[in-house]
Amino acid sequence: MEQKKLEVKCLCKNFNDNPVLQEIDFHVDANEFVAVMGQSGCGKSTLLYCVSGMDRPTSGEIRFDGCEMLGLSDKEMEKLRLQHMGFIFQKANFLKNLSIADNIVFPAFQLGGRNRTEIRREAEQMMDRLGIIFVADHDIRQVSGGQLQRAAICRAMINHPDILFGDEPTGALNSSTTQEVMDIVSEINREGTTVLFVTHDAKVAARADRIIYLEDGRIKDELRIGKYKDSDRWERERKMQGWLGKMKF
Ligand SMILES: Nc1ncnc2c1ncn2[C@@H]1O[C@H](COP(=O)(O)OP(=O)(O)O)[C@@H](O)[C@H]1O
Ligand SMILES: [Mg+2]
Repeated sequence: MEQKKLEVKCLCKNFNDNPVLQEIDFHVDANEFVAVMGQSGCGKSTLLYCVSGMDRPTSGEIRFDGCEMLGLSDKEMEKLRLQHMGFIFQKANFLKNLSIADNIVFPAFQLGGRNRTEIRREAEQMMDRLGIIFVADHDIRQVSGGQLQRAAICRAMINHPDILFGDEPTGALNSSTTQEVMDIVSEINREGTTVLFVTHDAKVAARADRIIYLEDGRIKDELRIGKYKDSDRWERERKMQGWLGKMKF
């Protein structure tokens, strides 16, 4: 049986007595890539923030590697996130007065345990692999959106997380840059990192093993398409489009 990386039971979240997530049950297996889709306002970001410990649900259970997350103090939660979780958002949120490389190494210093040289070398290896080593010392205003999103992946991966979370991670990119960034994400997933992405881009979701569709804060359906291979990309995208049509997306 697959090991469950993330297990969510009867998750509810209210904002001012307004139910935004209702009785959500789902799990993400270790090494799985799951995408969450649904209309704007259906609760995707709220769900991602709750399961990644950035926000607290109103009720329910969230287990990460079998550990009940909601019993953790804020400090314990922060440590869990730094040690085991990586995050990418639509916009990188990099600090303006630091270089790209200094932004990337930041979470490694927050976590501690490795020396400066080791961390810097690791960041350089990642930037090299993602083709952005030449912007290492640039200011964030001197790089393109695609370069910045690659840098965001480097920052998310600097502490070797078990799971990579993304909230519309390609939302600000054009379609060719989206595919390049998703090639990297597919590779990271093949190497063993679990991925949970929220997206409204069917081509991004078509990279996932499984897609969960949210409607008005509830899970409406899910589609399992299995591990991504470049050779069946078009077939997957077609399957996705058909299913999304049925969801009235
Ligand atoms: N901090 C908040 N306070 C009040 N309402 C919120 C807050 N965050 C989100 N909401 C509401 O919750 C609903 C779901 O939001 P969100 O999770 O951002 O949806 P999605 O990411 O699917 O577009 C929306 O109606 C939104 O207005
Ligand atoms: Mg959102």
